[in-house]
Amino acid sequence: MITLGIEGTAHTLGVGITDEKCSVLANVIDMYRPPEGGLHPREAANHHADTVAATISKALSDANLSLDDVDVVSFSKGPGLGPCLRVAATAARALSVRLGIPIIGVNHCVAHVEIGNATTGCKDPVLLYASGGNTQVIAFANGKYRIFGETLDIGIGNMLDKLGRELGLGYYAGPTIEKLAKEGKELLDLPYSVKGMDMAFSGIMTAAVSLKKKGHKLNDIAYSVQETCFAMLAEVTERAMAHVGKDEVLMGGGVAQNSRLRDMISEMASERNAKMFVPPPRLCIDNGAMIAWLGHLMYDSGVRMSIDETKVEQRFRTDEVDVTWR
Ligand code: FE2
Repeated sequence: MITLGIEGTAHTLGVGITDEKCSVLANVIDMYRPPEGGLHPREAANHHADTVAATISKALSDANLSLDDVDVVSFSKGPGLGPCLRVAATAARALSVRLGIPIIGVNHCVAHVEIGNATTGCKDPVLLYASGGNTQVIAFANGKYRIFGETLDIGIGNMLDKLGRELGLGYYAGPTIEKLAKEGKELLDLPYSVKGMDMAFSGIMTAAVSLKKKGHKLNDIAYSVQETCFAMLAEVTERAMAHVGKDEVLMGGGVAQNSRLRDMISEMASERNAKMFVPPPRLCIDNGAMIAWLGHLMYDSGVRMSIDETKVEQRFRTDEVDVTWR
């Protein structure tokens, strides 16, 4: 069974194709890069609308398939930016109607977990999902994927991007901050902001910007931001693992590419005799293959959606999903 998945929650328009064994036959990723400033939802949506048809064609050609070979189409129903979500949903509806095939709207966060489960060999992990728009610690408990801790304000990746802009490092500044941090030596004082099981990042950003005004080196600021924020993520993830009694931790989202974050999570895991899993880079960031795979799992477990049920949900919560496939 061939499933084509369309991702469009934020900056990335992705089209992936998977079969019933989760072989990734295609995974085309087209990321919108704003010419200046931050990500404007409408401009990102225009980019997605301009590129979605060509991206679908490219995915089919990478997979050596034609449209007629596609059995199910899935798309990211949420959570995400409304204008971007609507482009992915519209494209999926058009394919469903034109080809007369089923359509499945999937939860983007759950898709990160399931592609990790299918490709890394983990079975029942706690997911640390750290990206631009989302920062959540998720685990399966009592029949649902539940959020055990999350950001109370902005996603960690969004914070790093905003900080990068304030420090003059350009947009999508996470990799630049990671590089700068490697040469950092002094751990500067920043607010450590864990509240219960939740975290907040925007105050840390404000404090980091003020460190620059006080004359501290960029290397030390980047180092201190990473050490502080990643320690918060590790703490919440570790407490979730202890609470639900799981000995696997899976990483997902763009910030999971950061080697310092991986080292800290790996160290935390090994101290608990637990194992860390990280999907290959193109399955870790936002991508269409994970949307295709979750679409397959849902369809295969009997989920069906009418076109009326494919409205996008900007605030689609992980724990609203009925997990019919486990
Ligand atoms: Fe994501």
